[in-house]
Amino acid sequence: MLDFENVTFSWSKEKAPLIKDLSFHVTPGAFVALIGVSGCGKSTIFKLINRLIQPASGQILIRGEDIGKSRGPAGYMPQKDLLFPWRTIRRNLMLPMEIARVPAKEMEERTSAMLEEIGLADYADKYPHDLSGGMRQRVSFGRTLLTDADLLLLDEPFSALDALTRINMQEWLLKEWSRYHKTVLFITHDVEEAIFMSDQIYLVHDRPIRSLEVIDVPADRPRTRDLLTRPDIVQLKSSLVDRLRKEASL
Ligand SMILES: Nc1ncnc2c1ncn2[C@@H]1O[C@H](COP(=O)(O)OP(=O)(O)OP(=O)(O)O)[C@@H](O)[C@H]1O
Ligand SMILES: [Mg+2]
Repeated sequence: MLDFENVTFSWSKEKAPLIKDLSFHVTPGAFVALIGVSGCGKSTIFKLINRLIQPASGQILIRGEDIGKSRGPAGYMPQKDLLFPWRTIRRNLMLPMEIARVPAKEMEERTSAMLEEIGLADYADKYPHDLSGGMRQRVSFGRTLLTDADLLLLDEPFSALDALTRINMQEWLLKEWSRYHKTVLFITHDVEEAIFMSDQIYLVHDRPIRSLEVIDVPADRPRTRDLLTRPDIVQLKSSLVDRLRKEASL
């Protein structure tokens, strides 16, 4: 689904590269968590995939095709929810379809269906500031789904939520993922969240980023939160936290 081939990137010519000769791939349908200490370059990887910035060398492929050639290659949910405050919830959801020039009737039908799906049909004509943080995240996620991309890049989608809302949203997202058969690449600082949600965890473990360490999460689906108390999973969690602590102190 996604391949990085020897990608090198730096924010400026004077600076040492942030990413150097990085190769990795994500298989179709996978749910992958990307973790690493603050400032290591996770969001930068997403911006590269979205062509907001260009690598100095190397290639990024989606479905085997160079991202330069495909149009709107991935659905991107940025670190901050970027809903437009002056647009209603319905019109925020319509945005990607307006850009893709989807016919009006289809756009209205799909928006109404998505409003049901994210449980916000009653809020269609409200504005973002009328909604709670969890609701806004659902709108933001719904809008990302309506881009029709089969690769979704979610940058810390739940970081601003309280603990309980966050748990509900994690379970909700897993349901949506299994329903839509999307490939998800998901950035989080929460190790437990990474374990609960993903098939694999990709750990940023060096600077510049030369490789991602791939850790398989040894658990079947569907999952329940009991998973998080299983001894081998508790062990996995504490070893990941230790790794991140060490990285942070480098
Ligand atoms: N627009 C920019 N111009 C110059 N440098 C930038 C820019 N955006 C990010 N950087 C630098 O690139 C590095 C990686 O930033 P990035 O946002 O990718 O980190 P991150 O892993 O997503 O961090 P966090 O977990 O805090 O979100 C940082 O040192 C940051 O200062
Ligand atoms: Mg970031």
